[in-house]
Amino acid sequence: MKRLGILLSGRGSNFIAIADAIKSHRLMGAEIAIVLSNVADAPGIQAAKKRGLKTVVVESKGRARADHDNEVVARLNQHRVDLVCLAGYMRILSPRFVQSFQQRILNIHPSLLPQFPGLHPQRQALAAGVAESGCTVHFVDEQVDHGTIILQRSVPILPGDDEDSLAARILVQEHGAYPEAIARVLSDQYVCSDGRYVRRDSSSAHARAVST
Ligand code: GRF
Repeated sequence: MKRLGILLSGRGSNFIAIADAIKSHRLMGAEIAIVLSNVADAPGIQAAKKRGLKTVVVESKGRARADHDNEVVARLNQHRVDLVCLAGYMRILSPRFVQSFQQRILNIHPSLLPQFPGLHPQRQALAAGVAESGCTVHFVDEQVDHGTIILQRSVPILPGDDEDSLAARILVQEHGAYPEAIARVLSDQYVCSDGRYVRRDSSSAHARAVST
């Protein structure tokens, strides 16, 4: 059983989607070891408590990033976390944090990366006039909203959309995408190959095609 550490700062709907997927056996081989927040009154922490999950608050306000992150890493290790899932965690991770869980931190972002990283991606998509947007689950590296893409789901942008209506349409896709991405990472069936996250057999087929 792989132990997940969920990090959140707010509402926690992606956390709930992951917890529900585990409960209904759509996401197998995983359990939530700890739900950690940097915000004491995050609704996601209340939701985790209601589900009987272990929670911990490591407040970030007024603390140096490295100092705060060292405590978060210690807590994750204390709970023997295998895979860290950022789910609306509004903090940039220090390099030491990323290095402590190399290729073991996932994030979800509500745009089709590399388009529209950073804040207000739905607003950015509307301003750019693109025809579609979506969500991306990716491994976390030292850059913000960057790292090998695990999977993406797209949605159309419709006439009359505003930031809220687009965010709501993307969020529906996020709730399916995150558990699916975790399942892929835990399955051992996928590997990083040429900067892409692909099924093992397709990467070896590619390797064969290249070597002949
Ligand atoms: C989601 O849109 C996620 O993609 C982004 O932050 C939001 C968090 O929502 N990183 P929730 O707290 O999971 O409901």
